[in-house]
Amino acid sequence: LKDKKVTVVFVLGGPGSGKGTQCANIVKNFGFTHLSAGDLLRAEIKSGSENGTMIQNMIKEGKIVPSEVTIKLLQRAILENGNDKFLIDGFPRNEENRAAFESVTGIEPEFVLFFDCPEEEMERRLLGRNEGREDDNIETIRKRFKVYMESSLPVVDYYSAKGKVRKISASRPVDEVFEAVKAVFTSLVD
Ligand code: ADP
Ligand code: C5P
Ligand code: MG
Repeated sequence: LKDKKVTVVFVLGGPGSGKGTQCANIVKNFGFTHLSAGDLLRAEIKSGSENGTMIQNMIKEGKIVPSEVTIKLLQRAILENGNDKFLIDGFPRNEENRAAFESVTGIEPEFVLFFDCPEEEMERRLLGRNEGREDDNIETIRKRFKVYMESSLPVVDYYSAKGKVRKISASRPVDEVFEAVKAVFTSLVD
């Protein structure tokens, strides 16, 4: 992967902040490929891989899967794809994710798109999502919020100190959020 020249944007924000929804819009308008770490992990469970049961248990508990596993999936997805522009959604989720991805791939994000949303709103959205996810129940949601505050927000702070965070207020209708997102991507000259 160190030989493939790629542009990467990390898309971060709490569970239910609208990362997947906005990524779909970015793909349509700006030619990126969307890679959701959570989606890749769920696909790995479905594929019947030897790690499947471990991943399933961790997702059910809202815990962060060891970086090694997630990075392998991301790496494979990037290499398999002909595109050179990627949105990496829901990753890095903790300091271990961040440091390991950087040392394994050598990739530094162009910037970090950060969706800022109050917890009550995220909770409402997750409970209404209806995708049959095993982690969209109130017990697991509470655990995910705790992990987000304790482990994921520090990663946002890390990139913030480097001037790399583009913060979007996400507690507005989808179209309004996307207007703000567009402004960020339009200023990305390539
Ligand atoms: P994430 O990927 O960050 O967990 P999703 O994009 O899956 O979040 O959105 C979570 C739920 O909230 C979905 O049901 C989605 O349709 C809905 N949603 C996303 N953005 C908004 C928004 N701006 N306003 C209201 N509902 C939203
Ligand atoms: O981003 P998403 O909400 O789809 O993530 C669902 C779950 O997948 C997380 O709560 C976590 O258990 C797992 N995950 C992970 N490491 C990541 C991203 C997701 O362990 N980087
Ligand atoms: Mg998502």
